Amino acid sequence: MGEPTELHEQLVDAANGIYGSHPGARAFHAKGFYCAGAFEATAEAARLCRAAHFRGDEIPALIRFSLGGGDPAGHDSVREPRGIAIKLDLPGGEQTDILCVTTPVFAARTPEDFLELLRARRPDPETGELDLEKVGAFLEAHPESGPAVQATLGTPPPASYAQLAYNSQHAFGLLDGEGKTTWARYRLEPRAGEASLDDEEAAARDGDYMRAELAERLRSGPVAFDLVLVLAEEGDPLEDPTAAWPEERRRVTAGTLEVREIVDDPERDGGVVVFDPVNVVDGIELPDDPILHARSPAYTVSVNRRA
Ligand code: HEM
Repeated sequence: MGEPTELHEQLVDAANGIYGSHPGARAFHAKGFYCAGAFEATAEAARLCRAAHFRGDEIPALIRFSLGGGDPAGHDSVREPRGIAIKLDLPGGEQTDILCVTTPVFAARTPEDFLELLRARRPDPETGELDLEKVGAFLEAHPESGPAVQATLGTPPPASYAQLAYNSQHAFGLLDGEGKTTWARYRLEPRAGEASLDDEEAAARDGDYMRAELAERLRSGPVAFDLVLVLAEEGDPLEDPTAAWPEERRRVTAGTLEVREIVDDPERDGGVVVFDPVNVVDGIELPDDPILHARSPAYTVSVNRRA
């Protein structure tokens, strides 16, 4: 993980400024739970990418589903992105991580802009209300942030972690056996199809309805997602997670992620599990995306505070 600087401390402080600081909890994606499962790649993935997890072996996976905010007691109905974090145990002992969220694009192009947005979102200390003027001024100065904010506020509460599609937002370079690179964004598409609830229905449910729903669903068998590679074309932005790519980009099914059971929290007895998007292996190249490279050191700050 990268070395944190003042900026990464400030990002975590700003997250705490919105959600409060909660001992032992992540600064974002504070509320979540773990599952065990496996990933198996298709032959087409192996042709595109030489990385160990794309060779077609069954790869054991530790999976964490989460609610995007920093409140470990948040109600599952809130309008926030949901996350899926996957740690793959590769043959030979290495591990690699894949992190995705339900919003298709991110809310800022640089960590400095993201810090400004987080600070604008800090609730008024007197009223506890969002300062709409501050957020409005930020969005006016940063039109590139609009789509992510709209996607977050405009998406109704989910019915199930098994019925959401998740996106990497960043592009990753896939190297084949000859060293040729194909740039792609990842997307996890639910085999069960996407589904949502209306706000009233969701708010009336228990605050932890998402975990209970998944536990119930897993009784009748595993939950599956297709890992889809959305392939970049010449000129598509590879370093800007706020920018969507055209809908018609070619999609390749790279494999299946099977979620099999909810497991005990591996952090319960003081263990620390860190999912880090730059934890990649041979065959995967990272773009020069300033948001991607700010994440690892910001996660280190959060981990140091919660561990
Ligand atoms: C500069 C931008 C970002 C900052 C500062 C940031 C910050 C954080 C922090 C502090 C955590 C908690 C880490 C821990 O304690 O282990 C976290 C978790 C997470 N973030 Fe980000 N994040 C950023 C961008 C993104 C983006 C673009 C995605 C898109 C996939 C994303 C997805 C996630 C997910 C899925 C988790 C939960 C991981 C888990 O379950 O352990 N984040 N983020």
